[in-house]
Amino acid sequence: MSEILGIDVGGTGIKAAIVDVENGVFLSEKIKYGTPQPSTPARVIGVVKNLIKDFNFQGKNFGCGFPSIIKNNICYSAANIDNGWIGLDLQAFFLEKTGSRVTFTNDADAAAVAEIKFGKGKGRSGTTILLTLGTGIGSGIFVNGQLLPNSEFGHLLYKKSVFEHYASNGARKKKNLSWKEWGKELNIYLNHVNLLINPDLIILGGGVSKYFDKFEKFLKVKTQIVPAAMGNDAGIIGAAMMAALDS
Ligand code: BGC
Repeated sequence: MSEILGIDVGGTGIKAAIVDVENGVFLSEKIKYGTPQPSTPARVIGVVKNLIKDFNFQGKNFGCGFPSIIKNNICYSAANIDNGWIGLDLQAFFLEKTGSRVTFTNDADAAAVAEIKFGKGKGRSGTTILLTLGTGIGSGIFVNGQLLPNSEFGHLLYKKSVFEHYASNGARKKKNLSWKEWGKELNIYLNHVNLLINPDLIILGGGVSKYFDKFEKFLKVKTQIVPAAMGNDAGIIGAAMMAALDS
């Protein structure tokens, strides 16, 4: 099966498209809904059901990127999503509510899967880290083609809390930071990550990656930094790719 629905659940938006997983491209338009607030399981599943209807998706298997640590389908964290998700068996819950078998992947890991196969990480050996700069910060790490799942580099401690509260795109918007002000925080963050894992390539993802030229000049890191090729779409594509592998 090469046409699969990919859904990317984020703290602010829930986006989806039908994906050609062999080629890493959309076969449909992208549909986006706002993430309900509070983003409880009952309310999010309502949006997912709408998306299934919107696409008239008849497949029995689809992929979902989710902003949490996920092990054996259990959700273990909820920084940008309602706490009611913690401890839930995501696959069992979605099967009950939608009748489909859903493959869950951490959203940043999903984006990294897509960027490594089809985007800026293609053909790269060594360590590549993709950082999604969205409502929070997610990380997806590949070492010689192998994913290291569930890394949480947005949650490194910084000032009074964690880096995602200072260097995410959400922080930039909330605090109304200029590109320079935000770029300085991002630079501190990227240098810290760089020091900790010494990657060979850093890919910046999330919607803000399309404005890379506006903040690139504030980043002084010894490792190559590039904006994601698939921007904000990588999470949808990677989620569908993971479902294909799982079917
Ligand atoms: C979550 C991560 C997620 C990232 C991006 C963080 O707050 O802890 O699991 O990948 O946000 O959504």
